Amino acid sequence: MEHAAFVILDQSSMSKPLKKAKGGKVRPQLLRGMKDILPQDAPYWDMIRRKARELAESYSFSRVETPLLEARDLFERSIGEHTDIVSKEMFTFTDKGGESIAVRPEWTASACRAYIEHGMVNQPQPVKLWSFFQCFRRERPQAGRYRSFWQADYEVIGDADPVVDAELILILYTFLKELGIQGLVQINSLGTPETRRKYTRGLVEYYKKHARKLCGDCKVRLKKNPLRLLDCKVPECRELVTAAPEIIDFLDDESRKHFMSVLEYLDESEVPYNLNSRLVRGLDYYTRTLFELWPDREGGENIALGGGGRYDGLMKLLGGRDTPACGFAMGVDRVVLEMKEQHITPPRQFQPDVYLAQLGDRAKRRSLKLFNDLRASGVRIIENFSQDGLKEQLGAASDAGVRYTLILGQKEMLDNTILLRDMENGSQEVVAFEKIVGEVKKKLG
Ligand code: HAM
Repeated sequence: MEHAAFVILDQSSMSKPLKKAKGGKVRPQLLRGMKDILPQDAPYWDMIRRKARELAESYSFSRVETPLLEARDLFERSIGEHTDIVSKEMFTFTDKGGESIAVRPEWTASACRAYIEHGMVNQPQPVKLWSFFQCFRRERPQAGRYRSFWQADYEVIGDADPVVDAELILILYTFLKELGIQGLVQINSLGTPETRRKYTRGLVEYYKKHARKLCGDCKVRLKKNPLRLLDCKVPECRELVTAAPEIIDFLDDESRKHFMSVLEYLDESEVPYNLNSRLVRGLDYYTRTLFELWPDREGGENIALGGGGRYDGLMKLLGGRDTPACGFAMGVDRVVLEMKEQHITPPRQFQPDVYLAQLGDRAKRRSLKLFNDLRASGVRIIENFSQDGLKEQLGAASDAGVRYTLILGQKEMLDNTILLRDMENGSQEVVAFEKIVGEVKKKLG
């Protein structure tokens, strides 16, 4: 779970308060905290999605899509009733049939539900699943924290080996690195549920002694979800965290061994990490390894670009067989912000080779089919049929960096020809209309 204190502000596409337009009509607007992805930003999303797929394929993850809506109870049971996500942030409603429904705030619970429901336990284990999707949390909106956001999520179900934890951390680290972001892994272990119980008792004992100094939220956390006391951002509470007991001192032997082994794999793989005994994350299903990835730059502390951990008890809790599992989700919106912060731009995805310019009604009518024939034959071609002037069209062709422009004007219509203009040297040749597809293909090689 993130602890972000964000400084990067990019809320240009986020919702503003309702405004009345002229004539007193209320203009439709985005819901508060929700976000549109506009054309100038879509290439970032595409780049991340491509990287997500490439890594998933390399590491043999299979893609699964689950519905946006699930039974509310699924998230309550898995994420935990007293977590912020479930108690404050889920979008829920009762449908017309009286069923209590939640809009997914994350994907792990849905992946487990799908694993159980479709009998994936009978497939060779582990089952590796991934997805790229939108989820929703009714958080207080700020830069990097939205009510609608995207995640790329990877889950390995059915293997308790620490190599799985390390592989997932390596994937998250590599994901960011290959996008141009240097990350630092924050890692901790929560041990078994028993460790967690003992540690929680230790924490409560400690915090009870300082209860007077706690902020209002922490007073509630002390009763309902003491681990989250370590996450508070209020300065007085942060001071108390420094002297609070550390979970590492409570770990049982098996969990300690597991944790050490994960760290050894990370050392061997040269993944930089920071042992962070205060990392607790905001979802109750975790056992043993917990991790987040923060940008490794000044000011990047506490911006979780992704996070995850092991959740060995969840499958059983949801009524499945006792099955160990581990996973993570990367926060796509935050990665985009970080890319912009670091001036990383997505590569141009579609570089056209040819521009089709037309002049006059008859030429325009003929251009529509010609364009589609050229495109279908594999030529990377663009047009702007809304533009009628030749000057404007040639300008657009040169802005797009095409190698050739085809010009179909009134004279060419009469002669049944078309002009082929080389954009580099400005030379033009007349080509018989019926030969143009072959000619363009020949020129492009
Ligand atoms: P999470 O830490 O709640 O974990 O979310 C993962 C990432 O999603 C965060 O590190 C952050 O980058 C991004 N994120 C979370 N909330 C928001 C928000 N309101 N706006 C923008 N980005 C956000 C999970 O969701 C777990 N299901 C991860 C996991 C998978 N654990 C095991 N398997």
